[in-house]
Amino acid sequence: MVTRMTQRRVLITGVGRGLGRRLAELLVDQGDRVWGTNRSGDAPGGLQGMLVMEMRDEASVAAGVAAIAAQTDGIDLLINCAGTDARAFGASPTERGPFDLDADTFNAVMEVNTTGPMLVTKHLLPLLRAGEDAMIVNVSSQLASMALAQTMGADTVYNVSKAALNMLSLKTAAALRDDGIGVVMIHPGWVQTDMGGPSAALTIDESARAIVDTVESLSMGDSGRFIRWDGTDHPW
Ligand SMILES: NC(=O)c1ccc[n+]([C@@H]2O[C@H](COP(=O)([O-])OP(=O)(O)OC[C@H]3O[C@@H](n4cnc5c(N)ncnc54)[C@H](OP(=O)(O)O)[C@@H]3O)[C@@H](O)[C@H]2O)c1
Repeated sequence: MVTRMTQRRVLITGVGRGLGRRLAELLVDQGDRVWGTNRSGDAPGGLQGMLVMEMRDEASVAAGVAAIAAQTDGIDLLINCAGTDARAFGASPTERGPFDLDADTFNAVMEVNTTGPMLVTKHLLPLLRAGEDAMIVNVSSQLASMALAQTMGADTVYNVSKAALNMLSLKTAAALRDDGIGVVMIHPGWVQTDMGGPSAALTIDESARAIVDTVESLSMGDSGRFIRWDGTDHPW
């Protein structure tokens, strides 16, 4: 990890546990000013602020962003990290195929993984426009990949929601290019979080440190890229 000369103003969603929590800890250690969102109130130390944000509720997202706007006039880095899969809404761990899910379960995952990042970005736009070299990092997944998902992924709506997040990211990148705001999609690896499980290939720390290094090197030329945690291109 690098030692930064300048302090970035960062918002990370989902800092209560998993990848979002470790990313927040590392960026705080690096000297950045970090705001985090969570639903439970649990937060890593050293944050500038902790906002309670439910990704499925636009009023909650808007209120969280308004609270940040009362404390800073710009955000330089947004990491949309909060995410879920159908198990969180009662789907059986072994039955999440295209014919197993009811509409409420399907729509709930779409709301968290796709609509949520759209809402956070939309409400944060004035602060991002006031940021320096602002960058949006949408935490996607290899399961968003059309090339890979034909043979990978047990949770259909998770695949769909992350593929839709990638399309949202591309449209956002195009819409914000003239503002000088970049957007990238990052597959964090298969990570030992509650979602990834204990057999996953990477520890949370390994994934988060690699992502921090990769994000450090990003510039507008990277906007619209789908990359892995280590900065290499991910196939679409
Ligand atoms: N782990 C992997 O192998 C893997 C692989 C590819 C991509 N990803 C992506 O990486 C990101 C982080 O996942 P993780 O592995 O760290 O998972 P995790 O440990 O299950 O953490 C999920 C995070 O998302 C938040 N969240 C879930 N539903 C939410 C909602 N409705 N509103 C607001 N926040 C919500 C959680 O907050 P609460 O604590 O309040 O529930 C928690 O902070 C996700 O976008 C995930 O899709 C993970």
